Amino acid sequence: MAQQKLSMPTWSSRTVFLLAAIGSAVGLGNLWKFPYVAGENGGGAFVLVYLACILLIGVPVLIAELTLGRSARANPIQAMHQHTQQDRANKLWVGLGVNGMLAGILILSFYSVITGWSLAYFFDSLQGDFLQIPPAQAEQHFAALLASPWQLLFWHTLVMIITTSIVARGLRSGIEKAINIMLPGLLLILMVLLIYAVGTGAFAESFAFLFTPDFSKLSWQGVLVAMGHAFFTLSIGMAAMMVYGAYLDQRTSIVKASLVIAVADTLIALLAGLVIFSIVFANQLPPSSGPGLLFQTLPMAFGQMWGGWFFGTLFFALVFFAALSSAISLLEPTLSWLEHNRGIGRMKGALGLGGLVWLIGIGTVLSFNQWSELTLIGDKTVFALLDFLTANILLPAGGLLICLYLAWVMARPRRQAELRLEGIWQTLLLWDLRWVAPLAILWVFVSNLFSASSTALWAFLSVLVLYGFFVAYQTRSREEA
Ligand code: TRP
Repeated sequence: MAQQKLSMPTWSSRTVFLLAAIGSAVGLGNLWKFPYVAGENGGGAFVLVYLACILLIGVPVLIAELTLGRSARANPIQAMHQHTQQDRANKLWVGLGVNGMLAGILILSFYSVITGWSLAYFFDSLQGDFLQIPPAQAEQHFAALLASPWQLLFWHTLVMIITTSIVARGLRSGIEKAINIMLPGLLLILMVLLIYAVGTGAFAESFAFLFTPDFSKLSWQGVLVAMGHAFFTLSIGMAAMMVYGAYLDQRTSIVKASLVIAVADTLIALLAGLVIFSIVFANQLPPSSGPGLLFQTLPMAFGQMWGGWFFGTLFFALVFFAALSSAISLLEPTLSWLEHNRGIGRMKGALGLGGLVWLIGIGTVLSFNQWSELTLIGDKTVFALLDFLTANILLPAGGLLICLYLAWVMARPRRQAELRLEGIWQTLLLWDLRWVAPLAILWVFVSNLFSASSTALWAFLSVLVLYGFFVAYQTRSREEA
């Protein structure tokens, strides 16, 4: 492996690290996916399971991922390379870094297309397109956007240009600058919308929907969705947090930082849910309208409301900011690897990588129109397949490897130097990372496999799981030797 001696950049302050990590975590997952999956799965009970997943799986894996990053101070591949050397572990663990980079590229390819929708809607709303819009027309508006490959391509291209030009400038003058503007903006907009929702929406009804658990409405499938979503929403399992951790100074407590990130992410998802459902309920619209909730139901609701033009436009600005601050974290692991291990300058690397993601994204663009009939493994369109492959396979696989490595393989003193936990907390965390999290993740794996009921997926998954066991076994027997 060619190793360039480039010094690793560091965050200019702990606050900006926290903002960037929260910016990565808070995105379409919180504003678009969480409300609609909560709506589809009946609200309260789903939210409860989701919270449990965040606490029992999300936070521990986040801690583990930041730890692996900071202790090596290197990009994911280089980091795992160093870890395996120091712990005398099997080199195959480097696969964890590769898996992460692959996941990041694939996620961004469709994430960018959806971020493009929010940008399109921001401008449409600004133009007053949604004023007094009747239901049929709101559906039509969304359908028309999806039906036009050129429009989708235009917005996807714009998002990729913006994302690439931010990361190309590097950590301090690119990512930090963007984060310093976007995150405060995002929080401010959310607060304004919250006040608006309390004033004009069906706030109490929305609150009851999200916080009164009715377990009869929750299926096992819903539990799986909750778990997969916990991974996606915290940005874990693909080494994005690992590389953000690599830029972190030694004094910051990883455990505390992880709690702050998880609490902020969860709070923002819940607040966004409250805002969205109060507006939905105030207009007697159904909470269970699926992926179209944000782009069909909401514009319609805003269109009927006092100040709807202003607050609706503000809302789509919020979605865009949130999505963009996540998009940059999806490129960073690979970019850092290109720069430090391949000697490819940031600008060049960003252009090449951005171009590649843009190209793959065209598959998602077309899957909504030209290729909508084209289904691949398990009857999925290109977009659905990418979503499934990343959220249900690659991220959990990454998460599984991350907790296994930290809990079973990493030498104790090295782990302890980062975690700095004592007594019961240390025991609890390790126990969770050794047993609870891996078993839960494996369960998701296997169940998803059954529900997908496709031979190709079965084969793919079995190989992944076997690979995991093989690696774990190899490393353990070396440790014992
Ligand atoms: N967490 C983001 C969201 O909720 C998405 C995201 C950003 C992500 N970076 C990630 C997901 C890394 C998984 C891994 O929208």
